[in-house]
Amino acid sequence: MIKKGIILAGGHGTRMSPLTKAVNKQLLPIYDKPLIFYPLSILMLSKIKDILIIVNKGQLHQYKKLLADGKNLGIKLKFIEQNYPKGLPDAFILGEKFIGKENVALILGDNFFYGQNLSEKLQKSKKFKKGAKIFLHKVSKPELYGVAKINNKNKIIGIKEKPKKFYSDYAITGLYYFDNKVTKYAKSLKPSSRNELEITDLLKKYLSNKNLSTEVIGRGGAWLDTGSLEDFYKTSAFVSSVENQQGFKIACLEEISLNNNWIGKKEILSAMKFYGNCNYSKYLKNLISR
Ligand code: G1P
Repeated sequence: MIKKGIILAGGHGTRMSPLTKAVNKQLLPIYDKPLIFYPLSILMLSKIKDILIIVNKGQLHQYKKLLADGKNLGIKLKFIEQNYPKGLPDAFILGEKFIGKENVALILGDNFFYGQNLSEKLQKSKKFKKGAKIFLHKVSKPELYGVAKINNKNKIIGIKEKPKKFYSDYAITGLYYFDNKVTKYAKSLKPSSRNELEITDLLKKYLSNKNLSTEVIGRGGAWLDTGSLEDFYKTSAFVSSVENQQGFKIACLEEISLNNNWIGKKEILSAMKFYGNCNYSKYLKNLISR
């Protein structure tokens, strides 16, 4: 079972400079909300309430202003500052105390997931006790991601980080479930040629112990990695068209909490006061006046 989650929201967002010079990338907008709402919503949909957010040095106050300690969302938020990005597995070294004796989920701050039955899939998957679990999604440009080769029984046979030559078109998305061995494994990793600890090297440790399982997010689901400005616009357009067509919001944190019975009318009213007179608040008002 997984009760704790980490969101890695560090990184300098260099590819999106000058936008990211003063503001953390994860606080920039995807349509009508800051990017960080989307990965946070995924952990909340997985019914994970105890969450650590790793941010860049000097940017903590921006996050605290937006999310505080999570109480109003019915969750428990902690923050740690990262001096400089050392690669994804560093999250488990920085988060060692937070993880304690538990299993843990990691989601990258710039990853966007959407799809029918996604929450059920996430909640079901988090029940595992041992090993690690990754979520794969078919992509047209696998060379941009870590990829996994699977056989016809969905068993992983190999993993490669950003392969130059075609290896598999199943990208390893930025959502991972790990057992408690993860910190020990992360500490044993050596930096790669880009001088970072690689998540794929960490996954290979689980794979060689036959302890790595997978879920495939099929074509009914969407996964977008918002690494570049172009991706930001694409993802914003996606959210805008779904929200305006259906009248529902994607990643409305208060709505998820309300549905999980973590908060009630009181917290929604205080959130409306906090956000002020805007469409998001109007949406919140509708949630409690139905
Ligand atoms: C990282 C991981 C890669 C994974 C991707 C998902 O890539 O190294 O394995 O597929 O996130 O977003 P990066 O964003 O560091 O290029």
